[in-house]
Amino acid sequence: MTILILNGPNLNLTGIRETSIYGVSTFGELLRSLQSAYPDVEFVYYQSNIEGELIDKLHEFGFSAAGIIFNAGAYSHTSVALGDAVRAIKAPVIEVHLSNVFARESYRHVSHISPWVKGYICGFGLYGYMLAAESLIRNFQLPPTNV
Ligand code: DQA
Repeated sequence: MTILILNGPNLNLTGIRETSIYGVSTFGELLRSLQSAYPDVEFVYYQSNIEGELIDKLHEFGFSAAGIIFNAGAYSHTSVALGDAVRAIKAPVIEVHLSNVFARESYRHVSHISPWVKGYICGFGLYGYMLAAESLIRNFQLPPTNV
């Protein structure tokens, strides 16, 4: 089972930039935690600051991966093309943001990705990626509730 973790612009600086918002841990640390928690899962990590490269990666993994965990960074709020790419592929996508975007500037409240994703997680820092991975690995097997 392969899960793609796809990060957009500036997320390569996580652990260094605006640590009061994004925290001090790095994606290297997250990947080590994920791999030891789920040794049978292949996690592929890709980060780009270039919109078209993110689209290419969605196309490459979107018809074969078990799921994609996607943080498009600021492109989430601006990119119709990334939304179209998520809409076009078959793999379930979980949108993740480190920060609680709804507690921030209003332009961060909009996402062109969200209408096409399986689920949305924000505000839990890197732990949000662990939650997303668990939901994909369990394949939403919990029965739905009516509450
Ligand atoms: C972010 C939130 C975006 O608004 C911002 O542009 C980012 C990071 C997050 O993970 O909280 O770069 O996607």
